[in-house]
Amino acid sequence: MNTLEGKVAIVTGASRGIGRGISQALAAEGAALVVHATQREHLEPCLQQLKEQFGGQYLAMDGDIAQSSTSEQLVQAAMDTFGHLDIVVGCAGINRDGMIHKLSNAVWERVLAVNLSGVFYLTRAAAHTMRQQQSGRIIHISSIARHGNLGQANYAASKAGVVALTQTAALELGPLGITCNAICPGFINTDMTRTVPSGAQDRMLARIPARRIGTPEEVGAAVAFLASDQAGYINGQVLDVSGGLTL
Ligand code: NAI
Repeated sequence: MNTLEGKVAIVTGASRGIGRGISQALAAEGAALVVHATQREHLEPCLQQLKEQFGGQYLAMDGDIAQSSTSEQLVQAAMDTFGHLDIVVGCAGINRDGMIHKLSNAVWERVLAVNLSGVFYLTRAAAHTMRQQQSGRIIHISSIARHGNLGQANYAASKAGVVALTQTAALELGPLGITCNAICPGFINTDMTRTVPSGAQDRMLARIPARRIGTPEEVGAAVAFLASDQAGYINGQVLDVSGGLTL
């Protein structure tokens, strides 16, 4: 069943990891995609796989999501190419970890700029178009670290901010037929988590009721559901995809 046939989606951070898993899940349901990452050439393997597996229509774009112009260009490109914009997924994100007393201004500001301002710029750019359409789905990738996490003050603050932004957008845009929800992945197998030392990985796995690391595809499946017509009455919610890690 192609639940997203005829829909157009933007996915940021789509070159690898969770963003790539989300792109696959949306493409599998029939959506046309604007996929975005820092460098266009990094999107090539993703594009090739999408075309081979699902056929469909794809547009690849690059740029720093911390610049507001990037989001404006993404929305403009979606409109110019496909004529409408139905789904926006703010997934691009970084971590630059360190204990608070060692965090420099630059590292603090960069993580907030990419993870929080980037998501804000994308939401604002999409809102302009979706308000006119009186429809749309906005889905942001936060993290279970929104509750606070040792050595991740900048990252945790950015991800808590994403939840507050999501809920505010849900309040403002809900009356216009637009939903805005956040997904909080737990410990997912990507480049970001592969750098975690093996001892810390083992301790994390022991805390997860599912006793395993999650996959980008499992996050993608949750996004595809929230993007579908079946999820039309779900707004301003925060969905953990973590194998129960926060219990
Ligand atoms: P990753 O490092 O594998 O991929 C990050 C993606 O974001 C890449 O496509 C990269 O090009 C893009 N990106 C990074 N900085 C960018 C910038 N300035 N402008 C535009 N694009 C940029 O990361 P992963 O693990 O796939 O994470 C994706 C999202 O999921 C992030 O927001 C991350 O915080 C979040 N997340 C990841 C978890 C995990 O366990 N891997 C857990 C919870 C949340």
